[in-house]
Amino acid sequence: MKVDVILGLQWGDEGKGKIVDVFTPRYDIIARFQGGPNAGHTIIFGGKKFVLHTIPSGIFHRKTLNVIGNGVIIDPLILFREIEKLREAGMEPQENLLVSKRAHLIMPTHRLLDAALESAKGDSKIGSTLKGIGPTYTDKYGRNGIRVGNIADHSFNARYEQLKAEHLEVIRHIGFDFSKHLLDALTFDAYEEKWFESIRRMKDLKIIDSEIFLNTSLDQGKSVLAEGAQGTMLDVDFGSYPFVTSSNTITAGVCSGLGISPHRIGKVYGVFKAYCTRVGSGPFPTELKDQDGEKLRIGGNEFGSTTGRPRRCGWLDLPALKYSIMLNGVDSLIMMKADVLNLFPTISICTDYKSGDEITASFPFDLCDETLQPVLREMKGWNSSLDNCKEISEIPGTLADYIRFIENEVGLPVDIVSIGPDRLQTLQR
Ligand code: GDP
Ligand code: IMO
Ligand code: MG
Repeated sequence: MKVDVILGLQWGDEGKGKIVDVFTPRYDIIARFQGGPNAGHTIIFGGKKFVLHTIPSGIFHRKTLNVIGNGVIIDPLILFREIEKLREAGMEPQENLLVSKRAHLIMPTHRLLDAALESAKGDSKIGSTLKGIGPTYTDKYGRNGIRVGNIADHSFNARYEQLKAEHLEVIRHIGFDFSKHLLDALTFDAYEEKWFESIRRMKDLKIIDSEIFLNTSLDQGKSVLAEGAQGTMLDVDFGSYPFVTSSNTITAGVCSGLGISPHRIGKVYGVFKAYCTRVGSGPFPTELKDQDGEKLRIGGNEFGSTTGRPRRCGWLDLPALKYSIMLNGVDSLIMMKADVLNLFPTISICTDYKSGDEITASFPFDLCDETLQPVLREMKGWNSSLDNCKEISEIPGTLADYIRFIENEVGLPVDIVSIGPDRLQTLQR
């Protein structure tokens, strides 16, 4: 068997969580391969809403196993908060959750470092979620990190204290006063205490060699779906660097983040919104800073699932979408939030970029180039509700035209159209 992949093609928040949840009944195992609690994946069903940060979005289906892979970084405190919320809702996530020994731990001082480094950047700050992502991956690649499999080591506390001391030295050097800085409304000491409490509770989880488990499961004919976090435009190599996250969000990240050979990658599903959003700083060629942008933000409830920050909104960007499709080897497209465009009599779509006299559909080295302008094509909107569409054949002709235009431009089929946040508001073509 092969590993299918669902990942985001834009700047994150495309609706990956909803689609993974919809696909879960088809799979035996769902696995997160990168990122950490910077992710916020929303799942809505039966009138209830859940936002997952570290736990894979297949957790609501008891028969499906959910793996937090080696490429993910874990803040145990945030993980247990998620587990508690699910338990309050009557679930037993510990039963079908598996955690890789090789996943790295986000320490409280990684979060402080994140805040200190961001504050030092001033106006050029990344707009990080401040969950400690950059500093934890830095320690991983700098070969200083602490992994889930180290929790039971005798030397765990000593390694923690040594790394903490190194972090605090950098924080002091930056001149960041963390005495008043709160981590999720807690002082550093209170956060650290709860963090250690959670570390102790980690021993009750199923901690495994996830790369062996996944490959053995595939050999036994089990089906696996890899769930991406963030989006391709936030990939550390190919995104709008330096305004990116610190992991490989693309299909290639599945191999290193789960221990899967490239031969074992199956179908790649690319999720994109019918428009674009971005949260945090960095270039965004189709951004709308006018009333249309506000209309998308309000209509799409575009406020961060993790931080609550308003998301920046703009028209669909085809050069960026084509670049993402190429990088990921996408086989099938899934278009989300078509309903948010209901209110627009006309809809624009970016077909090319213009820089000076040059018009190009290629994705540039530096998206931060201030002279870069989107070339927009205006299309007629459907300007009506999609609430009564229960089958794809019932969508307005103008929406079908919009989808056909995208398909022709990118050369791939849009196989699923999402017209609302609920599981059921999903049309298969
Ligand atoms: P993810 O990070 O990719 O999982 O996406 P988020 O959960 O951060 O953001 C997507 C938001 O859009 C969530 O609030 C979803 O409930 C919502 N959503 C998903 N699909 C649709 C859709 O088709 N229409 C509307 N209106 N909302 C949707
Ligand atoms: P999901 O999985 C949207 C953005 C942050 C910031 C940049 C770096 O829900 O799609 P980081 O905390 O990683 O250091 O932040 O990346 N970012 C996201 N934006 N969705 C996400 O995840 C994101 N995770 C990080 O806003 O601009
Ligand atoms: Mg999100």
